[in-house]
Amino acid sequence: RVAEPCVLVMFGITGDLARHKLLPAVYDLANRGLLSPSFSLVGVGRRPWSDEDMRDYVAANVRKRARTPWREAIWDQLAAGMRFVEFDSFTDDEAYARLTTVVEGLDADRGTSGNRAFYLSIPPGWFPAVTERIAASGLVDEAAGSWRRVVIEKPFGHDRASARELDELVGRIVRPDDVFRVDHYLGKETVQNILALRFANTMFEPLWNQRYVDHVQITMAEDIGIGTRAGYYDTIGSARDVIQNHLLQLLALTAMEEPTSMSAPQVRAEKEKVLAAVRLERDGLLDLDATTARGRYAAGYQGGVPVRAYLDEDGVAPDSRTETFAALRLEIANRRWAGVPFYLRAGKRLARRVTEVAVVFKQPPFLPFGPAATAGVGSNAVVLRIQPDEGITMRLASKVPGTQMELRDVSMDFGYGATFNEESPEAYERLILDALLGDAPLFPHQREVDLSWRILDPVIEHWAANGRPEDYRPGSWGPEGAHELLARDNRTWRRS
Ligand code: BG6
Repeated sequence: RVAEPCVLVMFGITGDLARHKLLPAVYDLANRGLLSPSFSLVGVGRRPWSDEDMRDYVAANVRKRARTPWREAIWDQLAAGMRFVEFDSFTDDEAYARLTTVVEGLDADRGTSGNRAFYLSIPPGWFPAVTERIAASGLVDEAAGSWRRVVIEKPFGHDRASARELDELVGRIVRPDDVFRVDHYLGKETVQNILALRFANTMFEPLWNQRYVDHVQITMAEDIGIGTRAGYYDTIGSARDVIQNHLLQLLALTAMEEPTSMSAPQVRAEKEKVLAAVRLERDGLLDLDATTARGRYAAGYQGGVPVRAYLDEDGVAPDSRTETFAALRLEIANRRWAGVPFYLRAGKRLARRVTEVAVVFKQPPFLPFGPAATAGVGSNAVVLRIQPDEGITMRLASKVPGTQMELRDVSMDFGYGATFNEESPEAYERLILDALLGDAPLFPHQREVDLSWRILDPVIEHWAANGRPEDYRPGSWGPEGAHELLARDNRTWRRS
């Protein structure tokens, strides 16, 4: 489906996200023929730029990062609809008046029919000022036959209370159904494939429950440090940065019941039910020292290269207690999952970049082969490899060729790369397109955000009141505490 003619107003167009992801994605969508020829892009930022300067900046980033080849005709069409509006600050009322004039001008010149999407890629601290002024400018006033939408990026607040405030602010400018909250993990093909694997096949769902599943491990490991993002990261930490959103969404997709259709209300309703059933208690007892772990990377070497400690990164407060690694043990209080731990871990500067969901099965109740034959056999597992090596692995026991009955674990692999010739589109392509189409299934609802904070708030409060994160070696799999967390349950983390 091709998006209707519209104006996309991008606040924060000079930021990292726009440069790396949003602008290349817009170009790729145009190149794939998914935007209307009259699609227009208005950049809002603090640089003293002309429209031409913005075009040069967009072109440079597109040439560097777009997935699809450069095509002059596509570029010319896109560039003709680009405008830049300089803001001295986000509180500059006069700038909103200029923005309104530019957007209305595009409606008239390019036939964008009053359809407007506002992409707020700005620090959350600016939300009150920006939403208030967008409302006052009349830019979002309802007009017959056209739509107004707001796209916002995480963090959706920094706890449950602030997420509710943020929602209230955005609710002042558009209706709840017109708010699109981006969790870019939901735009990834492999994440969407979790529901395809579970609900388009017969062979997994009968086993996908507490009778057969021993536990689930969800890992989001990155080998990079925080780079130049201390300003953002040091106030946030790993739990708020990726567990509140990406990892809890992965958990919801892995554990939810089958929706009656793939429509947004149905999918969201199932995710909400499972998030509402998540518990921090271990067998009914709350002991956050036993069921959570956090760490921060020390100085060391990664891939043979010396790297700085988190505390020595530019812009990190000397007395910072921000975690760069977080792990949680969760349970889900429902019939399907009672007693099955879900272990989540996320961290920077770990051994390698990998995101995966591993569903680990129980041991067979009886093995007729004798202990010697099965010494090399672990548990069956289905591993959903989200990235970078996208695919699915099944771990099974098999006979080793030879005259003896000796068994060993083997893998069966499905790889996206080998099976499908096409490269997957970038998550942001799908998400920007869906927002412009008004398709909501891949965007978390405020209720999901709220339920995720319900899970995390007590953990973050507990950490704030108790000491500091434990140091871990760059290139390792995180702090000792993370290993102890599983050892308490007589389990170990998978070596991906
Ligand atoms: C972002 C986090 O949401 O996801 C970053 O803010 C993290 O800290 C990034 O690096 C990872 O995204 P991806 O798509 O590379 O896994």
